[in-house]
Amino acid sequence: MTMNVVHVELGERSYSIHIGDGAWDLLQENLREWNSAGKVMVVTDERVHSIYGHRIEELAGAPNSPATVVVVPQGEKSKSFGRLEDLCRKMAGAGLDRGSLVVALGGGVVGDLAGLAASIYLRGVSVIQVPTTLLSMVDSSTGGKTGINLPEGKNQVGTFHQPQGVYANTDVLRTLESRDWYSGMAEIVKISLTLDPELFAYLEKVNDLGPEGGVDIQLIVEAACRRKAEVISIDEKEAGPRLVLNFGHTLAHALESSLGLGEIRHGEAVAIGMRAALSLSKQICGLDEGQYRRAMAVIEKIPVPDIRYDQNLEQFLTRDKKRIGGRVRCILLEDIGRCHVTSLDDPGELVKALALS
Ligand code: GLY
Repeated sequence: MTMNVVHVELGERSYSIHIGDGAWDLLQENLREWNSAGKVMVVTDERVHSIYGHRIEELAGAPNSPATVVVVPQGEKSKSFGRLEDLCRKMAGAGLDRGSLVVALGGGVVGDLAGLAASIYLRGVSVIQVPTTLLSMVDSSTGGKTGINLPEGKNQVGTFHQPQGVYANTDVLRTLESRDWYSGMAEIVKISLTLDPELFAYLEKVNDLGPEGGVDIQLIVEAACRRKAEVISIDEKEAGPRLVLNFGHTLAHALESSLGLGEIRHGEAVAIGMRAALSLSKQICGLDEGQYRRAMAVIEKIPVPDIRYDQNLEQFLTRDKKRIGGRVRCILLEDIGRCHVTSLDDPGELVKALALS
């Protein structure tokens, strides 16, 4: 059994990320203790439940008080006010109180929705994140961001609500669809480019970043979580250093919203957004041609669909959450492992960079 632990240092809200094939066994042990103290609700989605239903019932079935299991539909559409209300009402119906625990077991959609419900129900109950996709393991399950979407844009409503712990069972990645694997890999590439030149050098050496490519998944998930944990520890609420985790995301969120939520995987949109950000980095902050090519070569290992975008894209760009004083914030790269946060008067610059990339 392989298990590694990464610590997120946040004073009294510190927690651990458990990474490895034994993560769910550890979770089951810890849930037994929780179950004797208060009610537990497990939130998952239809796909995860159809594959791991039996295991989830085992996790949830503590001898004296089994947890309530709530299954939400798969996909971005579940990140809605309707679904949020429904979940909060199920919490009330199941009698969850302030000593209760919500277990978000699924990908980013489940983590964001259940995390948000946990943060507002009774003004906040505890949540544990149990990510089942590569993307949620290396990004959305850690750091406390929760959210739902509006027609006006992705993740436009949300809170910061740190989990009590994260349990990432890397064994479940073998049932991921290839596009979802690559989607998570795009976030790993992002972390390597912005924060971890050593991880970048590793990704550069591996020819095939796909599910069958032989990449050391335990090693890279742990490295990505460690870098993210360091950033969260110094900037929990995204006042400064945490902004670098949005490399490629300004354009990615606008693309996702303009194409229709769920039409493109988040990581695919991030890969496209990173290409545009790299192109802009050469123009604005002097990213060297050699480093640009190295970075592009790794990003290009992530297959992305052909996309068609229109004027809608600029509209969504201007609504980006990170905008400040009407200017759109954008993360650029000065070098591999060194970022530059800038703001653009004209979001059209990013669209032009997209065409050039
Ligand atoms: N996904 C970026 C962050 O957690 O800050």
